[in-house]
Amino acid sequence: MFSRSVNIGLRLPTKKLGNCKFSTSGTIQSSYSSDKETHFGFETVSETQKAEKVKKVFETVASKYDLMNDMMSGGVHRVWKDIFINRLRPGRKTKLIDVAGGTGDIAFRFLQHKETLPNCSSPIRFTSPLDSIPSKRPENEVEAQYQALGNSSPEEENNRSVVVCDINDKMLEVGRTRSLSILTPDQLRRIDWKQGDAENLSDIPDNSFDAYTIAFGIRNCVHVDQVVREAYRILRPGGRFLCLEFSHVSNPALQWIYDQYSFQVIPVMGQVMVGDWDSYIYLVQSIRKFPKQEDFKYMIQQAGFRFVTYENLTFGVAAIHSGVKLYIGIQWSLTNWPIGFNLSRFTG
Ligand SMILES: C[S@@+](CC[C@H](N)C(=O)[O-])C[C@H]1O[C@@H](n2cnc3c(N)ncnc32)[C@H](O)[C@@H]1O
Repeated sequence: MFSRSVNIGLRLPTKKLGNCKFSTSGTIQSSYSSDKETHFGFETVSETQKAEKVKKVFETVASKYDLMNDMMSGGVHRVWKDIFINRLRPGRKTKLIDVAGGTGDIAFRFLQHKETLPNCSSPIRFTSPLDSIPSKRPENEVEAQYQALGNSSPEEENNRSVVVCDINDKMLEVGRTRSLSILTPDQLRRIDWKQGDAENLSDIPDNSFDAYTIAFGIRNCVHVDQVVREAYRILRPGGRFLCLEFSHVSNPALQWIYDQYSFQVIPVMGQVMVGDWDSYIYLVQSIRKFPKQEDFKYMIQQAGFRFVTYENLTFGVAAIHSGVKLYIGIQWSLTNWPIGFNLSRFTG
């Protein structure tokens, strides 16, 4: 068994687009093994194959992604995302990285939430259902509009308050186009779009962000534990990890209804709306393969996070897991002092 670095075929632009900073290395290198097995929905595949298949799914669905989210959830995903940002409770100076950020839903809410805080003068613009339909603008027009915002100084670059990071450039492209009709110019100056793999954010230094969010993204990753460890690394001490993900319903009757809807309705909707059965059957299968609430909580603790909790949404159809990266001194004290009285049992 060996692990080798494979190119999963993502070509990255070599120039800076608007305030969209991309790696100039040309490709994303990730450590996926072609020998180790994993799952892609209910299928057993190699790690390399899973990474490729996930990439293909989101390339295929990108242009209809937001519309389909509204259709399949009846708009409920918007409520979950609003709750998610409320749980994060960002301050005016919070610097967030939203990983697997796709078309920007979490980042937009984060910026809009900031406008509601005292001493913010920019006008508030909340998303409307129509925002889920991206206006068709050629990528160079989007780039021109971002460039028209003006070049930012290195200091401003440092003060950007949210980075949307995703492995898939198609999803990011849709997000950047949407951002022009959803965000104010001031908000557009505070958002960065970056292509990157959640499992290997090596161009991001340790202790860089106050908050890390990942919404409906982590179950698509090959090594979920590695994603959480990377989150821990790039968060500052005191920083918060928040994950919104589909989870598990414990009530058997509700589980039955949910299964009927998932397996009988969702793939059909995918086929009828966007001619794509496979991506939507993958969606429902991947949800069933994701760890249960308690198991995922344990994984987050294993990565080093403390005060790890979760909150079920809609009977556990989705759940928000959260954890804090403590200052090393505090972490040590919780574990070692006073001798014989280990406080970490209270912090998880
Ligand atoms: C279901 S979408 C969620 C998008 C967005 N967070 C939302 O809530 O609408 C999942 C996203 O995860 C991204 N993704 C999958 N694997 C990834 C990885 N290893 N690193 C970063 N992003 C990844 C996909 O490209 C896709 O945009």
